[in-house]
Amino acid sequence: MAFKTRVTEMLGIEHPIVQGGMQGVGVAELASAVSNAGGLGTLTALTQPSPEALREEIERCRSMTDKPFAVNITILPTIQPPDYKGYAQAAIDGGVRIIETAGSQQVREIWEMVKPHGIKILHKCTAVRHALSAERHGCDIISIDGFECAGHPGEDDIPGLILIPSAADKVKIPMLASGGIGDARGFVAALALGAEGINMGTRFCATREAPIHDNIKQLYVNNDERGTNLIFRKFRNTARVGKNSVSDKVVEISARPETEFEDIRPYVSGALGREMLKSGDVDQGIFWAGMVQGLIHDIPTCRDLIEGIVGGAEAIVKERLGQMLG
Ligand SMILES: Cc1cc2nc3c(=O)[nH]c(=O)nc-3n(C[C@H](O)[C@H](O)[C@H](O)COP(=O)(O)O)c2cc1C
Repeated sequence: MAFKTRVTEMLGIEHPIVQGGMQGVGVAELASAVSNAGGLGTLTALTQPSPEALREEIERCRSMTDKPFAVNITILPTIQPPDYKGYAQAAIDGGVRIIETAGSQQVREIWEMVKPHGIKILHKCTAVRHALSAERHGCDIISIDGFECAGHPGEDDIPGLILIPSAADKVKIPMLASGGIGDARGFVAALALGAEGINMGTRFCATREAPIHDNIKQLYVNNDERGTNLIFRKFRNTARVGKNSVSDKVVEISARPETEFEDIRPYVSGALGREMLKSGDVDQGIFWAGMVQGLIHDIPTCRDLIEGIVGGAEAIVKERLGQMLG
């Protein structure tokens, strides 16, 4: 049993289920496990210290799966920008067929680089107007991220139940629904709302193959749907992260009118967050997490997760909805 959509056709995958780019998490073990289970796994370029290291990671991933996988390139505001084009060149040279991009308009330079090589471009955005702009500029698939999502939900605060059908009304290229999806119900809902597949982040962090300490995986299971904080709102770079003592502190400091970024910088270091995923110290730094934590109750393999979603979706459509129709 498989759900066939334009997304499965364009990407050459069995199930329209994508593991989104995840800083510190999107390495070969996870990406290959998702791809081997029939979804699309994604290596996160900036998790690698250099384009050269990404080249090696692509080779490592290819040795672990013969299925398609993607490379994510995320462009965010930073004082010392990494060599984005170098990472894109590594993906091109490594024979990667799918790129997932996210972030500022600068991603268009990456699209121009990869497009002539026939690479499919999957672009993540958080607003209908951004999706339309990406479509005009030659993207192949949109991943539309609702307010529930882990990471950067944008500044409009539109949840998926509104954002996905609003985008589906206007965008002609295929769309993945992203943010707040973790089980068969979310998958069926996304298809019903007009998407042709789903993108998940947080749910894939609580899988056996995710390169994350067991304490942190358990935190994703233990937290409920209230287990997130929004930070950086003041700086128009809103981020949804997991609730712990560090993100609570950042919220508390940010509520003071005089707060500047320097006041919170020591708490929000990306290096500390990455270290936390390895050490298992749940209060070491900030960690990315979405509201979907409320729907995460176990730590399955990627294969069990994906097959459970697809099988559960079939049961919902044929049995639950079928019976309602009579
Ligand atoms: C641990 C973690 C790290 C992430 N890092 C990135 C990233 O580097 N680039 C990016 O585009 N999105 C990143 N995201 C967002 C995911 O790709 C995805 O869009 C989001 O998690 C979807 O929402 P969900 O968590 O509710 O499924 C990250 C998410 C998580 C949970």
